[in-house]
Amino acid sequence: MAVGEQYDVLFTGGTVIDGTGAPRVRADVAVSGDRIAAVGDLAGAQAARTIDATGRIVSPGFIDAHTHDDNLLLVDPDVSPKTSQGVTTVIAGNCGVSLAPLAPGRPIPPPLDLLGGPADFRFPRFADYVAALDEAPPAANAGLLVGHSALRLDTMEDVDLPAAADEIDAMRERLAEGMEAGALGFSTGLIYGPNQAATTDEVAAVAEVAGAAGGLYVTHMRNEHDGVEEAMEEAFEIGRRAGAGVVISHHKCAGRQNFGRSNDTLALIERTRERQAVGLDVYPYTAGSTVLLPDMVEKAERVIVTWSEPHPEHAGRDLEDVAADLRLELQAAVAALQPAGGIYFMMDEADVRRIIAYPHSMIGSDGLPHDRHPHPRLWGTFPRVLGHYARELGLLTLEDAVRRMTGLSAAQFGLTDRGEVRTGAYADLVMFDAETIADRATFDEPTRPAAGIDVVMVNGAVVYEEGRHTGNRPGRALRR
Ligand code: ZN
Ligand code: CU
Repeated sequence: MAVGEQYDVLFTGGTVIDGTGAPRVRADVAVSGDRIAAVGDLAGAQAARTIDATGRIVSPGFIDAHTHDDNLLLVDPDVSPKTSQGVTTVIAGNCGVSLAPLAPGRPIPPPLDLLGGPADFRFPRFADYVAALDEAPPAANAGLLVGHSALRLDTMEDVDLPAAADEIDAMRERLAEGMEAGALGFSTGLIYGPNQAATTDEVAAVAEVAGAAGGLYVTHMRNEHDGVEEAMEEAFEIGRRAGAGVVISHHKCAGRQNFGRSNDTLALIERTRERQAVGLDVYPYTAGSTVLLPDMVEKAERVIVTWSEPHPEHAGRDLEDVAADLRLELQAAVAALQPAGGIYFMMDEADVRRIIAYPHSMIGSDGLPHDRHPHPRLWGTFPRVLGHYARELGLLTLEDAVRRMTGLSAAQFGLTDRGEVRTGAYADLVMFDAETIADRATFDEPTRPAAGIDVVMVNGAVVYEEGRHTGNRPGRALRR
């Protein structure tokens, strides 16, 4: 630093975990503008603001590798469920579900309705959505995926059929426009209504456009139950044919008969990584959540209703109790609640731990921000990994846990100069207390903010501090 120069912000006396997995070091961190200006012993340095980090960890801001925050970024620009747990970047557009491109004025079927109502889908080109983020920046950065269900609805006469050649061409054009506008890749949700009828050939043909642009193929696979390995093979084949790196979304082995099967699925990923790029994300819970689907209700051990348009009063209640009150069989109650959402208890804790502990797993919340009674992963995922799984259970070191939510995810999604604390990187930072960091959101009280998060900074500006959002909106739509 030149004589007389002064930093904007200086974190003093803290311990840095840099996001690479390297052991923690005592270091000060200086920020100038939107970048980290220096890391080390900065005793005597001047700064416009000094933050005492004594007894605290300073790490890269967390990257939520799997979100459905496309619309949240516009309607809750504080991105409160995420910034309050230390998240500074979200990857949106997962599971084939993206807010764009989709010409306005059409009905929005499940699961796209997870993002909002018909009025929220108002971006005929992907670039229009990116421009909306540029014009009204949120508090967090956003990396964006183009969803296959959105493309199918926008281009196809009947989404219950495989796409015809001209429809595939139309999807390829729209995806190319999205990649041009900066999208990080292409996502599918092959288990869902508007996406189900797509053949492997169709998906590979569309994904090729993402691969050619250097983007990823990110997939909620066709099957996460009995057919999980065949579904993985399909994802890998699509990645090979498209020339794209594959990310398996929210990896799980659902259904009691599949408990323990992550031994096999992780071995399959490990073998496949020898010949092609494969990554994955995982959330730290044994329950999943999505729209209320008859098939998933059938397979789950317990279901909690998260929202229902005709029956909002049942949000937060067990489906079994709702059915009893309505004097209906389970599936009749499911029908009566539509459109609706649910939390599904369907996984084995040992599988969840094994997948979290796998070195290539990124942490992604898969939170559903518009649900009336959301799955607690929306508000608790990152502190739960750091507090419960790293500190309390010792499943992984704090350094490794931080890596899966920072450096690893930045590398996977190609986010240049993010996910690491080092001179020259963007100043996306979180200061937290390793002794007290914890998730507070539960299945009963799902929107309680996390504990132990002191300061959250995005591109050099503080967005969350002492339990409050500052109102700063320094987030950016990140271009590939
Ligand atoms: Zn999904
Ligand atoms: Cu998802």
